[in-house]
Amino acid sequence: KKGNYDHYMQKEIHEQPESLTTTLRGRLIRGDDFKAKSVLLGGLKDHLRTIRRSRRVLFIGCGTSYHAALATRALLEELSGVPVTMEIASDLLDRQGPIYREDTAVFVSQSGETADTLQALEYAKSHGALCVGITNTVGSAISRGTDCGVHINAGCEIGVASTKAYTSQIAVMTMLALALGEDTISTRARREAIIDDLLELPNMVKEVLQLDEEMKELAKELMDEQSLLLFGRGKQQSVIQQLQARKGRLIVICSKGDAATVCPNGASHVIEVPQLQDCIQPIINIIPLQLLAYHLTVLRGFNVDQPRNLAKSVTTE
Ligand code: UD1
Repeated sequence: KKGNYDHYMQKEIHEQPESLTTTLRGRLIRGDDFKAKSVLLGGLKDHLRTIRRSRRVLFIGCGTSYHAALATRALLEELSGVPVTMEIASDLLDRQGPIYREDTAVFVSQSGETADTLQALEYAKSHGALCVGITNTVGSAISRGTDCGVHINAGCEIGVASTKAYTSQIAVMTMLALALGEDTISTRARREAIIDDLLELPNMVKEVLQLDEEMKELAKELMDEQSLLLFGRGKQQSVIQQLQARKGRLIVICSKGDAATVCPNGASHVIEVPQLQDCIQPIINIIPLQLLAYHLTVLRGFNVDQPRNLAKSVTTE
């Protein structure tokens, strides 16, 4: 099943142009002279009004799913105007945090079986919130137990470290934000620009995957390092200056043509990626990091598909 690949993680990284195509298929409406470009999420269309009117949206998940939701939080607030809060499922349960009937709770889980997320679903249901699922697995407990939702359609993911499910989750939550914002005329240009970029996304990902060899070489340079610090934020220049002052070895991922502005004093390695709308840039930027993580792990002799002490989906509390 791994085909020409050595590991599932490698296969799943390289599958992303196809998995994203399937995620987006049938869900982006190109529009015409009379009709704006729009998004169609079959599973949500009857619930959008309720979600727009909710007092807040809670994103609830664990691990990578939580982080995919975090990556789309700002866009959802921007386009829907509804406040979005983030909850790690176990923490919500430990606190017995307040949830109200006027809330929309969005449960994000690749497998749809994550124990903590499922328990949080029962908890939110008992408080009367509208429960929305975002999962990769049709027929899973979360898919069945939520009031409505969206299947991410990324195809089966076997590698424990999530790659294609993560990028498809971000794509789906971006479409969720677009769908929620659809009744607002003032954001139409922004929404259409995002839809244009989503249509380009599979090709862009294919282009970034050509960094594979470069990332393998970089992994060879880094394989004996003790630690690797990752920094990411909207403004990075001051962080870069401080790291340079401390003689840090800088590896910079930036948009094409931005290297001279982002790090005027140079860096030991610059990785340039195509630039898309800010909200979907995470899908592009993660690709070189996935490749680096993969090659570093293999070079260091660890089990890349099943890292020790980690399960693909945690189905016990
Ligand atoms: C659906 C079909 C798809 C078909 C398309 C054609 C299924 C599973 N999907 O996709 O095969 O090509 O119509 O229009 O038959 N749901 C939840 N919770 C979740 C995820 C989904 O309740 O966590 C519900 C949705 O609200 C919806 C149903 O499951 O009622 C299917 O969701 P989804 O597959 O995302 O819908 P479509 O994209 O319309």
